[in-house]
Amino acid sequence: MRAFIAIELPEGVLAALHRLQDALPLGRATDPDQLHLTLAFLGERPEADILAAHEALEGLRAPAFEAQLWGLGTFETALWAGVRDAAPLKALQGRVLNGLHGAGLMLERRRFRPHVTLARLPDLHPDGERQLARWIEARAAFPSPPFAVSEVVLWRSTLHRGGAHHDALARYPLEAAPASR
Ligand code: 2AM
Repeated sequence: MRAFIAIELPEGVLAALHRLQDALPLGRATDPDQLHLTLAFLGERPEADILAAHEALEGLRAPAFEAQLWGLGTFETALWAGVRDAAPLKALQGRVLNGLHGAGLMLERRRFRPHVTLARLPDLHPDGERQLARWIEARAAFPSPPFAVSEVVLWRSTLHRGGAHHDALARYPLEAAPASR
């Protein structure tokens, strides 16, 4: 089974991302059900590994927090929205990885760059590059509404000819912050 761990985005954030996607001058927009913030990509794994990941995630202890998408950029063939003040998200991702490693699951070592992939870009000619650069510049400070990160989701990804289909397999709640005052 092909699987990954990600944060699901709420409707208000998805709507803001859809508006951006609708205005995109080029590229292929990510399917709405694939707009999420990935924390760890497990890849193709035997069922036993998915079960081990599930058990590790059930033991996850990490605080809920507020996040906001902020800024746009490109990385290879991806156009992405970034994350503002990513420290709590990076801390969460660190705990998820520790849990997975503790369960004996080894992952590709990659620097974590929190992002939501908005579109895949074709090979661009200089004119297309300039058009995209202007488009990004005009929206450089893209802010989404702030949103609560209160759970982590284990997803199954099924590849088919047209792309991938994602199903949520299980959800793991984060710990609510103690009420202030
Ligand atoms: P991406 O948005 O940058 O493509 C499901 O494919 C999720 O896992 C996507 O959010 C994807 O990130 C992420 N992912 C991370 N590493 C991946 C890899 N090697 N292959 C496919 N998806 C990967």
